[in-house]
Amino acid sequence: MTTENSTTQEPATGKKILLSGSRPTGRQHLGNYVGALAQWLDMQEECECFFMIADWHALTNSYNDTGELPENIRQQMLDWLAVGLDPVKSTIFIQSAIKEHAELNLLLGMFTPLGLAERTTSWKDLVVEQGLDEMRTYGFLGYPVLQSADILMYQAHVVPVGKDQVEHVEKTQDIAQKINVRYGEVFRIPQWRLGRAPVLLGNDGRKMSKSYGNCIYLSDSSKETWDKVRVMVTDPARVTKKDPGDPEKCSVWDYHKVFTPEERHGEIWENCTKAKWGCVECKRVLQEALDRKFEPVRERRAALEAKTGEWHEVLVEGNRKARKRAQKTMEGVREKLHLFPSDGSDGT
Ligand code: TRP
Ligand code: SF4
Repeated sequence: MTTENSTTQEPATGKKILLSGSRPTGRQHLGNYVGALAQWLDMQEECECFFMIADWHALTNSYNDTGELPENIRQQMLDWLAVGLDPVKSTIFIQSAIKEHAELNLLLGMFTPLGLAERTTSWKDLVVEQGLDEMRTYGFLGYPVLQSADILMYQAHVVPVGKDQVEHVEKTQDIAQKINVRYGEVFRIPQWRLGRAPVLLGNDGRKMSKSYGNCIYLSDSSKETWDKVRVMVTDPARVTKKDPGDPEKCSVWDYHKVFTPEERHGEIWENCTKAKWGCVECKRVLQEALDRKFEPVRERRAALEAKTGEWHEVLVEGNRKARKRAQKTMEGVREKLHLFPSDGSDGT
């Protein structure tokens, strides 16, 4: 039997370690599915996966009112499980349950130049450009440091992310490198990986976002989904059915690319560009594809919701597994950094 490499905890299975996560925003929408969940599901077979709910990161902008956190976490867990994240194959856990993340955040902070933190896009946007004093906090400035702790804690090889998160993984690489140069191979340098899918717009043509109220949720019924798809913004050139359209100017086409079987793409393109059908018919085809894909998810979700405590048990078990790994990493980090060893008495 092979054993794990003590420093980087190389899995005995030879699989690559993957870590990803998202803040608990609540019910997941198709943007979350395409931007993150679909990719996670693909990787679940080939990697040893850690999927994390970043509830501490959520506090960076919601510290004034955390009341919605528990319900958002529950909704997100129901969606994650319903869509197919599998606690048998993967470790699904919540950041705040693993106190080692706070410890590593502190240590990484010692190595993080202020300039590196200040170069974060969200900091520059909200604090520097917009001057939002509410966001001028130590915690928000440290967002990429905490995220680095999340990633390095599990010695992840790969971090699947959306475009906006690439910069965080690059900062993680920089911080880890700085420590490795001084103290030997403390951390594995992680690589980011982008998905191939197009970004889906909300049904009003703007970025899909909970705050715009333009989302199609995984938990929407078939009827709710159709009510949203029906009014989706299309190519404005198609004033009437007789006007030809350009799918590239239409967000419905992006959805087709993701959800409608490829063999129908040619026909959709032709019907649009040659004005052979109306947008409503085109959307019907999309709706069928969405139903086919998500009806089983809706059913699994309803079943999970009926078993009240199940999602919570999954999380407790995932936390246990994650904690074990995190404690092992921190032992190694303390040793390499010549810090006093923890006696492990708090290890649960
Ligand atoms: N910042 C990510 C988001 O906004 C969430 C996140 C926290 C994360 N820690 C992570 C993503 C580590 C990937 C890896 O969704
Ligand atoms: Fe968009 Fe389809 Fe209408 Fe063309 S026919 S503009 S792809 S909805």
